[in-house]
Amino acid sequence: MYKLAVDVAIEAGKFLRMNVGKVKHIERKQGQETNLVTEIDKKAEELIIRRIRNRYGSHDFLGEESGGNQSASEYRWIIDPLDGTTNFTHGLPIYCVSIGLEFRGELRVGAVYDPTLDELFSAEKGKGAFLNGKRISVSTTSKLVESLLVTGFPYDVRENADKLLPHFNNFLMEAQAVRRLGSAALDLCYVACGRFDGFWEAALNPWDMAAGVLILEEAGGKFTDLRGFPSTIYRKELLVSNGALHDQMLEVLKRGMK
Ligand code: IPD
Ligand code: CA
Ligand code: CA
Repeated sequence: MYKLAVDVAIEAGKFLRMNVGKVKHIERKQGQETNLVTEIDKKAEELIIRRIRNRYGSHDFLGEESGGNQSASEYRWIIDPLDGTTNFTHGLPIYCVSIGLEFRGELRVGAVYDPTLDELFSAEKGKGAFLNGKRISVSTTSKLVESLLVTGFPYDVRENADKLLPHFNNFLMEAQAVRRLGSAALDLCYVACGRFDGFWEAALNPWDMAAGVLILEEAGGKFTDLRGFPSTIYRKELLVSNGALHDQMLEVLKRGMK
């Protein structure tokens, strides 16, 4: 299943890359002007589910574009066929495919593939995390002022600006720098391999997080909610870090909460 996740993530990622600049239909989701979906998102998800179904016909799926099904299966594949759709539609080469697999509700396999850089991040529960086959681990940065952080904003940021922006302002004042890349799955993998030291976001979906959270944890990173409590990929908010910076990041988040 690990090999299948990896192979299918690469295949779907190559499909995305081939289609940069060829998007024909852009729709708005859930009545939100900025929440885009293209025919490429949908086709990539169809491809992924088709490949997995061919091998494991009885498994369940939770895909961003096709939703979920629930059967008696103990396996559930959690799929974001294109994480970074806004970037993709603008030709900004920061997007990826994310495929996670749960067994009895526990994350077991994660594969995130970035076709632009040909980077495959992957992990199997208990076996470490890898970038193109080489083991990765989180950074050792221990001072916030030396940290490079990343965040993201939900599509309803305009309605929740009061809640979301104070954290951004506060981290700007405390960290070495703060980035906003537009692909939560890559943000997670970049913390896992030490490019970023920490990442927070207030409203993600399970398909944004499934693969990346396993990769992050297998690389030695820490994952909680924004108040420091243990979290899951179904709880929307997320704070991840290299561990050493976690408490310092929680302090900053606390200050920004009303
Ligand atoms: C989005 C990206 C973005 C994050 C948003 C997500 P999508 O996913 O991961 O970085 O800030 O919250 O919805 O829509 O490009 O798959
Ligand atoms: Ca996503
Ligand atoms: Ca997506």
